[in-house]
Amino acid sequence: LAAASIAAMTLVGSAFVGPASAQSPIVIKFSHVVASDTPKGKAADKFKELAEKYTNGKVKVEVYPNSTLYKDKEELEALQLGAVQMLAPSNSKFGPIGIKEFEVFDLPYILPDLKSLRKVTDGPLGAKLLQKLDSKGMTGLAYWDNGFKQMSANKKLVAPSDYKGLKFRIQSSKVLEAQFRALGAIPQVMAFSDVYQALQTGVVDGQENTWSNIYTQKMHEVQKYATVTNHGYIGYVVVVNKKFWDGLPADIRDELNKAMKEATEFGNSQSAKENDDALEAIKKAGKTEIISLTPEQDEAMRKAMMPVYKEVASRVGQPLIDEFLKETG
Ligand code: LMR
Repeated sequence: LAAASIAAMTLVGSAFVGPASAQSPIVIKFSHVVASDTPKGKAADKFKELAEKYTNGKVKVEVYPNSTLYKDKEELEALQLGAVQMLAPSNSKFGPIGIKEFEVFDLPYILPDLKSLRKVTDGPLGAKLLQKLDSKGMTGLAYWDNGFKQMSANKKLVAPSDYKGLKFRIQSSKVLEAQFRALGAIPQVMAFSDVYQALQTGVVDGQENTWSNIYTQKMHEVQKYATVTNHGYIGYVVVVNKKFWDGLPADIRDELNKAMKEATEFGNSQSAKENDDALEAIKKAGKTEIISLTPEQDEAMRKAMMPVYKEVASRVGQPLIDEFLKETG
């Protein structure tokens, strides 16, 4: 970021930290990168509705969807500088700011289902992971679901060998990089907002994402094939600027925590259906052939990706991986 824009962000940020008065509500700028009609978009809008209601308008939440304010990496920098107050980046996006532990969620096939995910996010390990954010000037408030990832390309992806030599867009996670390398593919980190165009122009051949993200970004219009793999998970950590959060009047913070809890329950209860509906909509659009794997083909994919666990153990931390597996097992 240019020095001038950092200065501008800092100025904007500090203007919103301070006590509420009748004339000027406390403003929470909530920036995110997906469409409003997605699990994250809907949970953010629900938080806005409840936060404004429970604080009787003392807090105003401005939601900026679809990377209208910032792209992936910029939004985390903006939060740290106080230019925005709240975000919900995916677990895969904390590595570049020096928190590697959330990448444990990126390990292939680590979550058999959403029930086992909940054991982590609602338990002691989830709480411990959120505390890692403090040292980066953030407070972690909640875990929000998206769902399981699927593979897409302009080529049929069935066997691990089908991935060989293809370029795949990935989020900024070393685990995801290792995953595609294990398949013999070429991973390329790219902001979410750039994926559609990169697929359309052939800068990358394929990508992995949830049905909801694929559909709302229209990726299915520029990908001939998508394979039901459910090989990984995308979920979010809701984070606030710590200084802003700690500086709020205690009663306001309590109401916001209540709003967050309810928005989380609302969002997480709908995420699976949103992805099912998006898959149906993709099928209906008729531009993408949806491929299902036989149990044997599924097994071959799992086997091909297993070396990732060893490869990233020193980065993510073997004890953390073990603890995660124990809690979900
Ligand atoms: C991605 O970059 O693919 C996702 O993290 C986008 C999102 O926020 O769901």
